[in-house]
Amino acid sequence: MRTLAPPGRRTTEIVARAEHGPYVVLTAADPGGPAPDPGQFYMLTAAERWGGGEDERPFLPRAFSVMRAHDGELDFLLEDVGPGTNRLAELTPGDELLLLGPLGRGFAPPRAGRRPILAGGGVGIAPLVVWGDVLDQPLTLLGFRDAAHAAGAVLIPDARVITDDDGFVTDLLRDELPGHVEVYACGPPPMLEAVRALAADNGVPAQLAMESGMACGYGACFGCVVPTKTGYVRLCVDGPVVEADDLDHVWRPDAAGRHQNAGLDAPRR
Ligand code: FES
Repeated sequence: MRTLAPPGRRTTEIVARAEHGPYVVLTAADPGGPAPDPGQFYMLTAAERWGGGEDERPFLPRAFSVMRAHDGELDFLLEDVGPGTNRLAELTPGDELLLLGPLGRGFAPPRAGRRPILAGGGVGIAPLVVWGDVLDQPLTLLGFRDAAHAAGAVLIPDARVITDDDGFVTDLLRDELPGHVEVYACGPPPMLEAVRALAADNGVPAQLAMESGMACGYGACFGCVVPTKTGYVRLCVDGPVVEADDLDHVWRPDAAGRHQNAGLDAPRR
């Protein structure tokens, strides 16, 4: 079972905005919306100035995991890395946000008494925040590219944090394996591929919250397909959380040595 979205976009209002280093947390009032499952996502659109200019086409909605849901409000974590996230990041309380969601399938509980380990990279920590809120004593490992980005770690107190100067979050994870654990991970494709390989090598289950280019968010455009061992799946309806064991790989260099993930390369969001 999963929480289903009401049909159509709804208009919400930004009620809070906070900055943590380069990250922005937007809080939207969504009193009529269903409570999302951890790992589900929403398609977000700024109600105004959502496009390059008056005579240009609007941007596509952007997909964001919900970071927290509380008292009819939703928190989203974003970083200004492209035209869409730039516009969203400048929203302030009182501005309108159009959203569709909650969408997709979220995380499943740990199997058979396994201790949950949350492994997040960069803005990918968002779904681990809400999942960590409901889990029993998770161990949380976070990786950020530098000290400025590590300011985002304030969103998950008690996490172990590493920055690229000292290593990667998968180095922290390697120290915890093997064990009677289940890994939950979200982050850039190379990180997820490293988590998948580590979990496979150590015989532990892992659930990966993956990212792909998404145009619709509800299964109609097939823009988000990724290959699994049993065929293609649409991340927006069959994911975004995928069992690591169902994948041959998350990411690999192509013949020319360029980096590619299993689905579409993420757009400049
Ligand atoms: Fe359209 Fe997944 S985003 S099918």
